[in-house]
Amino acid sequence: MCTLSACQNAGVKPAAASQSRHDLPQVVTQNGRHAFLVDGKPFLMLGAQTNNSANYPAALDKVWPVVDAMHANTLGIPVAWEQIEPEEGHFDFSYLDVLIRQAAEREVKVVLLWFATWKNNAPHYAPAWIKLNNQRFPRVITRDGRTLNSLSPHGEQTLAADKRAFEALMTYLRDNDPAHQVIMVQVQNETGTYGSKRDYSPLANSLFKQPVPDTLLARMNKQPGTWAEVFGDDADEIFHAWSIARYVDEIAQAGKAIKPLPMNVNVALRNPFNPGSGYSMGGPTDNVIDVWKAGAPHIDMISPDIYFRDHKTVKRVLELYSREDNPLFVAEIGNDQPYARYFFSTLGHQGFGFAPFGMDYTGYANYPLGAKTVNDDTIAPFAEIYGLMQSWSGVWATLSLEHQVWGVAEPHDSSKDEKVWNANVSQAKGESPAYSQLLDLGNWDAEVSYGRPMFWIDPPAGNHPASGGALIAKLSDDEFLVTALRARVTFTPSKEIASLPVMIERVEEGHFDDQGNWIFERVWNGDQTDWGLNFNDEPHILKVKMTTWQE
Ligand code: DGJ
Repeated sequence: MCTLSACQNAGVKPAAASQSRHDLPQVVTQNGRHAFLVDGKPFLMLGAQTNNSANYPAALDKVWPVVDAMHANTLGIPVAWEQIEPEEGHFDFSYLDVLIRQAAEREVKVVLLWFATWKNNAPHYAPAWIKLNNQRFPRVITRDGRTLNSLSPHGEQTLAADKRAFEALMTYLRDNDPAHQVIMVQVQNETGTYGSKRDYSPLANSLFKQPVPDTLLARMNKQPGTWAEVFGDDADEIFHAWSIARYVDEIAQAGKAIKPLPMNVNVALRNPFNPGSGYSMGGPTDNVIDVWKAGAPHIDMISPDIYFRDHKTVKRVLELYSREDNPLFVAEIGNDQPYARYFFSTLGHQGFGFAPFGMDYTGYANYPLGAKTVNDDTIAPFAEIYGLMQSWSGVWATLSLEHQVWGVAEPHDSSKDEKVWNANVSQAKGESPAYSQLLDLGNWDAEVSYGRPMFWIDPPAGNHPASGGALIAKLSDDEFLVTALRARVTFTPSKEIASLPVMIERVEEGHFDDQGNWIFERVWNGDQTDWGLNFNDEPHILKVKMTTWQE
């Protein structure tokens, strides 16, 4: 990650400049706002992630039709350590030859997921020569002496072997992907350990008695001491998080030295309101984001995997993982209908990527996390939203870097009748569902309301199922770009100008051409503006100019 000017010095051009096809993808941050530059321009990942075992040429024919139907521009897909290094020191990249060629033919970018030491806490995707040699590649030992099927982050030979394989992967990408079809690499998958706060092996125990490293002390604003002295009851988990973060960082650093692509880690989230202790400890859960930031400076972003269905929890997760030091990329989200609308709130947190999980026709479905089956009906809600954004996703990504933006998803939950993984929090507490939101845009507020007829003032009744959302970008104090689905957007004066008479000066409908120029189509007026700006399920992009006037 770098600032825009540092990236420019490093050869990355500003958003609007003409671009070379061969600029390396970069994460840029300016004034606390982020963009992901691909081919030198801000890029919005309209993503899709495959099911886990789609990482073979034979499966790809079942992947591309879904990517295509979704209007996705980015595919997240694994590359497994076991497939590239089945025998120690013997590498086979034939899968990537096929993947990269086919992705280039389809003009789809790729996020490669490095399934290695950790895949959902376990070494399932490590080669047999790793998994079957517990002496050389030790597993986590619990406090009561049991051995878990989660590799220890203190295994020096494990780290060396994973790093060597990752370096081979990055060397392959450097030498065989000059146009950077692969735009990002996720280092490991959902690191951490279920069932133990840390490794309690003799080696880990001796490290645990050492002083806490200065970098971590400084980051956490703590005085020197051993782990137990500094962190008390949290010491075991923080020690494990630090150890995994350092391990992952060493791999990322080595890989970036060969080809400096952006790199992320994903996280098996804990419930932000009710964390309990049954989550994957040591992974970058919300309580240890700072530990990971200190321990893994070569990781550009920590990306949430969202399988909470309810609005309140998703909103909280998006808040926790969108920070000045952490650009938001939703690396995974369930592929069932209720999740699709969270695309809008992801962009509202300046997110630059969103990827529903399990988007292929390989015949697997991860219900109840996601949909019961992957078919046209599953794809449709995502295809609708990506279709809305497809032609101007780069424009939005630039606005998100340079301007204030807002994005909201319909806030009530309509899935209460389903047997879902997560109960709907607000409705469970007996709160009445909200069918509207008020956004503070500065001079103006915007009310976004759901489930209203286009004409007249009927109160919002929500969409059933909840599926609406809106995006607003501020072009100047009184001018906004607005798009939405199944929502009414109404501009009202903020308190500061509430005493003045106000009106809509002009609402233009239009679209953006390939160069990002606004192409005017028509003016909305009369019924089309008297009852707010009413968006149905057709794609509309509006430029709205508000004004005050004097009698
Ligand atoms: C999150 C993991 O990152 C994915 O690889 C997958 O296992 C899902 N959970 C469950 O389908």
